[in-house]
Amino acid sequence: MGDFNQNIDVSEIYEPPKELSANAHVKSMAEYEAMYKASIEDPESFWGEMAKEFYWQTPFEKVGPEFNFDRTKGPVSVKWFLGGKTNLSYNCLDRIIQQGHGSRVAIYHECNDVEDQHASFTYDDLLKKVCRLANALKAEGVKKGDRVSIYLPMVVELPAAMLACARIGAVHSVVFGGFSSESLAGRILDAQSSMVITADGVMRGAKPVQLKAITDKACEITQKDGFQVRRVICVGRLKGTSFEPQTKYDWVEGRDVWYKELVQSQSETCDCEWMDSEDPLFMLYTSGSTGKPKGVLHTTGGYMLGSFATTKYTFDYHPEDVYFCTADCGWITGHSYVTYGPMLNAATQVLFEGVPTFPEVDRFWKVCEKYKVSIFYTAPTAIRSLMKSGDQPVTRNDLSSLRLLGTVGEPINPEAWRWYHRVVGGSRCAIADTYWQTETGSHLITPLVGAMTCKPGSASLPFFGVETAILDENGKELSGECSGRLVLKRPVPSMMRTVHGDHQRFEETYFSQFNGYYFTGDGCKRDKDGFYWLTGRMDDVINVSGHRIGTAEVESALVAHAKVAEAAVVGFPHEVKGEGIWCYVTLNEGEAYDDSLKAELKKQVREVIGAFAAPDEIHWAPGLPKTRSGKIMRRVLRKLALPDYDTQDLGDTSTLADPAVVDVLTETAQRYE
Ligand code: PRX
Repeated sequence: MGDFNQNIDVSEIYEPPKELSANAHVKSMAEYEAMYKASIEDPESFWGEMAKEFYWQTPFEKVGPEFNFDRTKGPVSVKWFLGGKTNLSYNCLDRIIQQGHGSRVAIYHECNDVEDQHASFTYDDLLKKVCRLANALKAEGVKKGDRVSIYLPMVVELPAAMLACARIGAVHSVVFGGFSSESLAGRILDAQSSMVITADGVMRGAKPVQLKAITDKACEITQKDGFQVRRVICVGRLKGTSFEPQTKYDWVEGRDVWYKELVQSQSETCDCEWMDSEDPLFMLYTSGSTGKPKGVLHTTGGYMLGSFATTKYTFDYHPEDVYFCTADCGWITGHSYVTYGPMLNAATQVLFEGVPTFPEVDRFWKVCEKYKVSIFYTAPTAIRSLMKSGDQPVTRNDLSSLRLLGTVGEPINPEAWRWYHRVVGGSRCAIADTYWQTETGSHLITPLVGAMTCKPGSASLPFFGVETAILDENGKELSGECSGRLVLKRPVPSMMRTVHGDHQRFEETYFSQFNGYYFTGDGCKRDKDGFYWLTGRMDDVINVSGHRIGTAEVESALVAHAKVAEAAVVGFPHEVKGEGIWCYVTLNEGEAYDDSLKAELKKQVREVIGAFAAPDEIHWAPGLPKTRSGKIMRRVLRKLALPDYDTQDLGDTSTLADPAVVDVLTETAQRYE
């Protein structure tokens, strides 16, 4: 797909900041190389040693990995820490408290509204909160293996609910609060979760988000499919505040219950369910090239180690740090780098409910100054959008506490990297460009900033235990300086184990293109120094502001409109979002193309998927370029969507059923625009 790093300079380097390096967990390339080698040559000792950090109720018999990536030899499988029994909630809370850190602040909750007093929760506080909810869930009949859907804003109850599920062995399925009722319903149905934890609503910037009303509608939709949500637990986020009048929802007697009322009589202690290392911990839906979003399933032991180790080493986490990751817990970044990774490291972090531009464009920097944040982790899209407001909103705040900056979600263009480094980081902070996926659970390729030089736009080198290869289109491994498809040759501990309820889809999605390898779906270059440069998705997935959106999902939302006959969706380079959504739409006979229909179609996509998936461009297409077998030639459409496309550069269009359609499309796209 897109290649955002076309103008890269592979020789532009930034040395590790001296002070950071001197105190880092990994101080030099030699140290990194030795550790990396050990992790590959002897994973048993490398990960086995690291896993001693945790409490195992039953010690594991074998570290592993025990795995099969070769479909000709049987089902694909991955297992780590075989025979071990443990619990994530115990390791995130009880273990930290036993180490004497109970009074340490785990979470500073920074509210959307600057006027709102923030709340702090120590590890002691959090454990009590988690136990009360865990007991309440048990009293409601939730058992080990049951799925619980969580549709909450960034309030402390969100990580607490995840940890409460983990404590009793329930599998959480967090759904990002920006998804629509249809998307939520689809996820509730697929997971068959009879329990949903939500909130009455939340203010995001100046706008109310009606979480309860959306949940109500989602429950109606699942009911039509014959599935009854038994309980909706509602956090009163706006109840009793001046924003309460802005929320509107119904109350279903017998189904709905206030969170506060449910937990108040519950005990502050709750025994853990001891989970097998390979018992499911959570599922999280992500988009692919085809079909419905899939429930990526993560298990216990390996995920615990992966999120712990990457938080410690990538962010070079030390006890005196204050950590702030801006991701929502509705995405994998919020799972691994808000809830689990930081707590496994006994970290103090900021949980931010609001948006970067409210009340002003310097909100992130205000938060950094207020809590003296030392590690800040965000997405390139946020950097690019804030960069537009210039340096002053950043520099008017005191950011001297920052020492390490991170990015995640999409390739970062060198210009944004340099701005982040110079303006936000005062030219003194290191930047970790972390490449990974929902499926891998934790960082795959990332600089260890105390040890490595950084190159703007490169995620640099593989993390411990990550054995990468770059393949050509025939599946041949390329060596040295090269460009191709990024695969893994063995599983990292935190890798997904299956797609919920559909192991075949798991195998087909990730293991069918190149037998024996896990295919990431990403294009990648390796430069002369062995540094990796991610170049974007190679499948029909668009990365919009770091969010993965399947083109097929947007297409099916569009064709669900009564006037639409056909739709084809492609990504195009977008200055702020990385990629934008470009739709070609063919209408039914006799329907008129006009601007009000465009607005309707955008609304339709918002309602079916969520606001973040709203199309940027809708172009009317009297016909779509199809091959003789009826397949849409997306390659051509992608080229047409480029700002500077050249008709000469469309590649081979001779296999099109009607090559003239391309000319018509070019003309009509302009005419109707
Ligand atoms: O294409 C890669 C891109 O985001 C995809 C994973 O998306 P998701 O599962 O939603 O997880 C996002 C948070 C990890 C990848 O396949 N991606 C993620 N991080 C980077 C990236 N592309 C380039 N550089 C990155 N640092």
